[in-house]
Amino acid sequence: MTERIYNFSAGPACLPLPVLEKAQSELLSFNGIGMSVMEISHRSSHFDAVIESAKDGIRELMSIPDNYQILFLQGGATLQFSMLPLNFLGEDDSADYVVTGAWGKKAVKEARREGNVNLVFNSEDGGFRSIPGNDELDFDPDARYIHYTSNETIEGVEFDRDLDGKGVPVACDMSSNILSRPFDVSKYAFIYAGAQKNIGPSGVTLVIIRDDLMDMVPDDQHTLLDYRAIAKKSSMLNTPNTWGIYLIELVCDWLRGRGGVAKVAELNREKAEVLYDAIDSSDGFYSGHAERNARSMMNVTFNLPTAELEARFAEEASTEGLDGLKGHRSVGGIRASIYNAFPKEGTIALREFMSHFMDKNG
Ligand SMILES: Cc1ncc(COP(=O)(O)O)c(C=O)c1O
Repeated sequence: MTERIYNFSAGPACLPLPVLEKAQSELLSFNGIGMSVMEISHRSSHFDAVIESAKDGIRELMSIPDNYQILFLQGGATLQFSMLPLNFLGEDDSADYVVTGAWGKKAVKEARREGNVNLVFNSEDGGFRSIPGNDELDFDPDARYIHYTSNETIEGVEFDRDLDGKGVPVACDMSSNILSRPFDVSKYAFIYAGAQKNIGPSGVTLVIIRDDLMDMVPDDQHTLLDYRAIAKKSSMLNTPNTWGIYLIELVCDWLRGRGGVAKVAELNREKAEVLYDAIDSSDGFYSGHAERNARSMMNVTFNLPTAELEARFAEEASTEGLDGLKGHRSVGGIRASIYNAFPKEGTIALREFMSHFMDKNG
């Protein structure tokens, strides 16, 4: 097959076609130097230009103030579940965690190895369908930091606002909605995201960290787990994922060409509305997982009347070029991931498929 299909995968997810084409055209000779970007030293001036441009792109797109460092790490967002407490949570300290889905729960598990975790909100009993209102969040003013997940990829539950830590540093796992809409970075002390949904390919983790947090890093920290040491060496303490960072640079260029994050957010909303409308107008044949005010613009999760129908739905959709719709193995159901690079036509194609499937099976 040479044609591209609609890829609803939750991540690694579809990349913008112009980015893939540009990478393809430069695969053998990057910038006319006769070598691939994968074959050159990360200490070369060629790669230096790439990493600086990728950082500039992220800084510009997210309007990141000057007192924040941008780092490209490895180990996925999962390593950040550990690295954050390893750097900022001593055994006698406590941190406040807001848990609205499976990823936040995993972050808590790792943080508990280092210090005390105060679960300020946890919607697990309700099946991770909701987000808390501000009146439900009573943060400890002495907490070392507050942690939350702005978009829970598995359950499709998203915060529609930046949480206010009222002076306590806010750390956020933005893996699945970073760059999807404007965030007020100045409200956060620490942001991290695996690249493989909205930023680039898997294998790079973006970390945005406020300068003052660097002073909290313990002096005896392991070198490669030390944000301060990594920042000092501009993310090149060891060999970084050069190919991944190059693709991030290209994704940033593409996003700027699309009018930036605010513009892309409008399109993301339109795409999500196509699918939520299909769910809401199905007389209950399709039922959305998340409560309405918690619905994700990135991962649209829903159920059909039976698990057997859900399996058939995903299978038949796949034969029609709508791939990756099976929900996460832990929750089942259907999940349509529609990150920045996912085209609106794909959501329309899925809506049509949903309508036909309901006609046949409803
Ligand atoms: C919100 C969120 N956090 C963390 C992770 C884990 O990321 P990684 O696989 O990069 O470690 C994911 C992966 O899908 C995610 O969606």
